[in-house]
Amino acid sequence: MKQTNTKITRRVRPPIISLSILICLFSWSLISQNAVTNNCTTECHKRTVKKDILHGPTATDCTACHETNGQEHPLEDVAGFTLFAEGAALCYSCHVEVEEEHNLKYVHKPVKNGECTECHEVHSSNDSHLVFTPAPDLCFFCHSEYEDKKATAKTVHKASFEGDACLLCHTPHASTQKRLLADKSKQLCLNCHNKIIKKEDGNLIANIEKHLNESSHLHKALKKRCTSCHNPHYSERDLLLKDEFTIGTYVKGIEENFSLCFGCHDTDLLNLETTAVGTEFREGDRNLHFLHINKDKGRNCTTCHDIHAANNTKLIATTVKFGRWDMPLNYIPNDNGGTCATGCHKEQSYSREVISND
Ligand code: HEC
Ligand code: HEC
Ligand code: HEC
Ligand code: HEC
Ligand code: HEC
Ligand code: HEC
Ligand code: HEC
Ligand code: HEC
Ligand code: HEC
Repeated sequence: MKQTNTKITRRVRPPIISLSILICLFSWSLISQNAVTNNCTTECHKRTVKKDILHGPTATDCTACHETNGQEHPLEDVAGFTLFAEGAALCYSCHVEVEEEHNLKYVHKPVKNGECTECHEVHSSNDSHLVFTPAPDLCFFCHSEYEDKKATAKTVHKASFEGDACLLCHTPHASTQKRLLADKSKQLCLNCHNKIIKKEDGNLIANIEKHLNESSHLHKALKKRCTSCHNPHYSERDLLLKDEFTIGTYVKGIEENFSLCFGCHDTDLLNLETTAVGTEFREGDRNLHFLHINKDKGRNCTTCHDIHAANNTKLIATTVKFGRWDMPLNYIPNDNGGTCATGCHKEQSYSREVISND
């Protein structure tokens, strides 16, 4: 049974029972009830053992699963054999460990439904795990939107579609973790992002785990998972981001360009020219976020903050990228404000205690 990647939802079962097959099983049953496989497969059921890898019992004993029902075999339109158990129960009679996976908190729907043969071949296979085709194609068979998006999305996380693909992060049967994840969500990402990665276009991706380990302040947004901001599979934005966030030093300072951040943070920090509560980054009630960002050529959040983690309070970066320059910020906070001395301007201090003139 060959499987294709087209967007169908069910495999079509090929016509199976032919007269010749029935005749052969008949001669088999005449010889011995405990006949070895060869008696079934030399003449008739060749197809069951055609592929390279044989399912354990298929190699030795067809009657491990098929038992004679007393009818003569082969006879056209008369079944000479029944399976001694239906559906998954047949498999569980030997694969107790898979049945036990039902005890895990999250069980994959087709497994819960006992549809083992939606993914597995029962007799022989070209795959050592006896699946019709390896992931990701196996998964696309039902999750076809992933194949569609892979072709059309702006950015694709290659890791999700190459090598073991889906199975790098998901288990096929069941898991202790939500969404059938193979590990704790954040750890999954750090299992690979624990080194510098060179992309195909030659650009380097930073070692995220090292950066987190070396930073004293983590962004609370990534305490448990990276997926509050990144899509693990693909995205219509740069860097697999889930919502709008413009990359670069300068950006038009409107909230739509930072939707990612304002999904969790209050827009007052950007929109109010004066405020006594909307942000701590202010001179008296003069909002310094507004001052720096709210203009056509506004400064991006990343010209001051490191989104993942930093060694300063409030995620203020030690250095930020300005072209090829790692520009230092020299941020020193104090009880009422702070001081920056950067490439953008000489040392400047702000104090929330300053009384506004207007
Ligand atoms: C691990 C259990 C198992 C063993 C061992 C097994 N079968 Fe089957 N067989 C099945 C199941 C389950 C089906 C029904 C397949 C389906 O519904 O897709 C089946 C279906 C069949 C069919 C009808 C459909 C088809 O795929 O052609 C034939 C003929 C058959 N088996 C022959 C054999 C022969 C010959 C052997 C030994 C070489 C054998 N089987 C060994 C489980 C087994
Ligand atoms: C009569 C016992 C028996 C039955 C029934 C049986 N299996 Fe198996 N299965 C085995 C044996 C033996 C092996 C080979 C030993 C191993 O790999 O652990 C095996 C191997 C496998 C493997 C490959 C294991 C691997 O290393 O990846 C898969 C997948 C599998 N079986 C699925 C099924 C499914 C699905 C069914 C039900 C349709 C089923 N088995 C029914 C005995 C059985
Ligand atoms: C969604 C597809 C899918 C379904 C449904 C599925 N499996 Fe699997 N199964 C896999 C894949 C993929 C692997 C290989 C796992 C790996 O690479 O770690 C596997 C591995 C196995 C193995 C060998 C490794 C192990 O976990 O012990 C057995 C046995 C097995 N499956 C039996 C079953 C049985 C029994 C069912 C039905 C209750 C079933 N599978 C349903 C995809 C599936
Ligand atoms: C036979 C069809 C089928 C195949 C093949 C299949 N799935 Fe699924 N999968 C489902 C169904 C049905 C659901 C439940 C969808 C729902 O509830 O909306 C599901 C849900 C999931 C979920 C979400 C689980 C959750 O807790 O929300 C993940 C993750 C998943 N599948 C991964 C995979 C992977 C990885 C593969 C390939 C190894 C795969 N699936 C192959 C049918 C399939
Ligand atoms: C790099 C790790 C990774 C890989 C590889 C991966 N996934 Fe996922 N997948 C996840 C994470 C993490 C989630 C949970 C998303 C969340 O937390 O919002 C998820 C969720 C899902 C869901 C549930 C629906 C949803 O979006 O929440 C499905 C279905 C799914 N993945 C299918 C697949 C398929 C199919 C593949 C292979 C083409 C695949 N995944 C590859 C990490 C991965
Ligand atoms: C199996 C290894 C692996 C895992 C697991 C993994 N990644 Fe990746 N990731 C890569 C590789 C390789 C690249 C570079 C190639 C590419 O674009 O996919 C990459 C690239 C990225 C990029 C940059 C994409 C771009 O367009 O430049 C982001 C963001 C990312 N991963 C986030 C995540 C998140 C979030 C997770 C966890 C859900 C995760 N990764 C899990 C291997 C992995
Ligand atoms: C609060 C949202 C958010 C969370 C949570 C988050 N990221 Fe990011 N990530 C971003 C943004 C925004 C960028 C782009 C930063 C920039 O422009 O400098 C980015 C960039 C990246 C990049 C590309 C870095 C490069 O050198 O090009 C990778 C890889 C990445 N994140 C992985 C992760 C991983 C792994 C996690 C979890 C440990 C994570 N992210 C959690 C928002 C987030
Ligand atoms: C998923 C929700 C979420 C998203 C998305 C998010 N954040 Fe946060 N952020 C938080 C939480 C929670 C805190 C901790 C607030 C607290 O402790 O009061 C935080 C704190 C901060 C802090 C201050 C750190 C501190 O120590 O108080 C900064 C700066 C920050 N985020 C910037 C950003 C930027 C920039 C973005 C967009 C790229 C963003 N955040 C996206 C949830 C999020
Ligand atoms: C010019 C530098 C600069 C830029 C650009 C900047 N911030 Fe800040 N931000 C700060 C400083 C400094 C603080 C710390 C204020 C304090 O606690 O004294 C801060 C604090 C914060 C806080 C903590 C709560 C608060 O308002 O005090 C959040 C959340 C935050 N920034 C989000 C953002 C977001 C989102 C962007 C982009 C839209 C951004 N920042 C752009 C310098 C900047």
